[in-house]
Amino acid sequence: MAVDGSLEEMLSAATAAVSGCSSLDELARLQNRHLGKGSQVAEARAELRSVAAEERPAQGALIERTRAAIEEVFRSAREHLEEADRQRRLASDAADLTEILEAAVPSLGRAHLVQRTRDELEDVFVAMGYEVVEGPEVETDWYNFEALNMPPAHPARGMWDTFYLKLGEPNSIMLRTHTSPTQVRVLQRGELPVYAVMPGRCYRRDTPDARHLPVFHQIEGLVVDEGISFADLAGTIEEFTGAYFGEGIHSRLRPSYFPFTEPSAEFEVNCTICRGAGCRTCSHTGWVELGGCGMVHPAVLEAVDVDPERFTGFAFGFGIDRCAQMRHEIADMRVLVENDYRFMRQL
Ligand code: DAH
Repeated sequence: MAVDGSLEEMLSAATAAVSGCSSLDELARLQNRHLGKGSQVAEARAELRSVAAEERPAQGALIERTRAAIEEVFRSAREHLEEADRQRRLASDAADLTEILEAAVPSLGRAHLVQRTRDELEDVFVAMGYEVVEGPEVETDWYNFEALNMPPAHPARGMWDTFYLKLGEPNSIMLRTHTSPTQVRVLQRGELPVYAVMPGRCYRRDTPDARHLPVFHQIEGLVVDEGISFADLAGTIEEFTGAYFGEGIHSRLRPSYFPFTEPSAEFEVNCTICRGAGCRTCSHTGWVELGGCGMVHPAVLEAVDVDPERFTGFAFGFGIDRCAQMRHEIADMRVLVENDYRFMRQL
C-alpha cells in the first residue's frame, strides 16, 4: 500500500510540475527528473527486486501503469507546448501586409502634384484678372514656329528638339515644343485686349535627367493691350513670384533672346531652398531660372493681324514641373512620372 500511495504521489507530483511548465526545454528537464535514471519511478522499479516473488508481477504492473501515466502527462504537455510554439512562430513570421490592406481600402485619391501646381498657378493669375485658355498638344509648324517669328530653317528653331508626326508634309505636324503657339491662337480670336494664361503639356527630344523630362508642362502668359510696357511685365512677374512662392522670394530679369519677343529676358527667382544665400540647387548664385519672357515681337502681332502701332504686349512662359520641384524641394524631377507609391502618398 505504501508503494501504491507513493506511486500516486509520483503521478500527481509530475502532473503538478508539468502544469507550471512553459517551455519545451524545461519540460525535457522535468521529464528526466520524473522518469529518468535517478527518478522515483526508476527507484521503485529497482526496488522490485526486493519485493516478495509472488507480489512482484502485480507490483511491477502497477509501477508500469504509473510510469505510462506519467509519460502520457509529459507527451500531452509536449504536444501543447509544441503547438503554442508553432503558433508563436507563425505569428512572428507572418508577412506584414498592412500596406496592401491599406491600398485595398477605397480612398478618394487626390490630384497629382503637377496638376495641383498647375491649379495653384492658374489661381494666382485668375486672381489678377487673367483668363485660362488651352491649346492643342499637336501643332502645325506654322503655330509652333513660323507665326512666332521663326520661318523655316531659322537658326533659333535649334533651341527646341522636336518630335514630328508622320502626317501631311514631312516635318509639318509636331508635338508642340512649348505653350507659346497658344498665344497665336488666342490672338487669332481677334478680341483685344488679351490677359490670358495658357497651361499645358509640351514635348521635346530631351533625355530625362534630374531637371528635364521629355514630356513636361508649361504655363504661358500673354497680355496685349494699349500702352503695355516692360515695366508692366517686370511688375507682373514680381507680383506672381510673391503670390506663388511667398514673402521674401523675389524675381529678377536678365537679358536673353527669343525670336518672338523683343526685348527678351529670362526671369529668375530667389532659390527657395537656400532663400538666396546660395546652395547646390542654385549653383551658389541664390537664383534659379524659371522661364523666359519679353515684349511681344511686332512680327508676331502682324502675323495675326494685330496693329503693332496701336497695341503692345508682353509674354512669358515657364515650367510647371520646375515650379513644383522648386516649391517642394524635389531633387530629381523623374519622380514626378515614375508613379512610385512611396512618393505619391506623400503628396
Ligand atoms: N517658349 C519659350 C520656351 O519654351 C519660353 C518663353 C520665352 C515663352 C519667352 C514666352 C516668352 O512667352 O515671351 O523656351
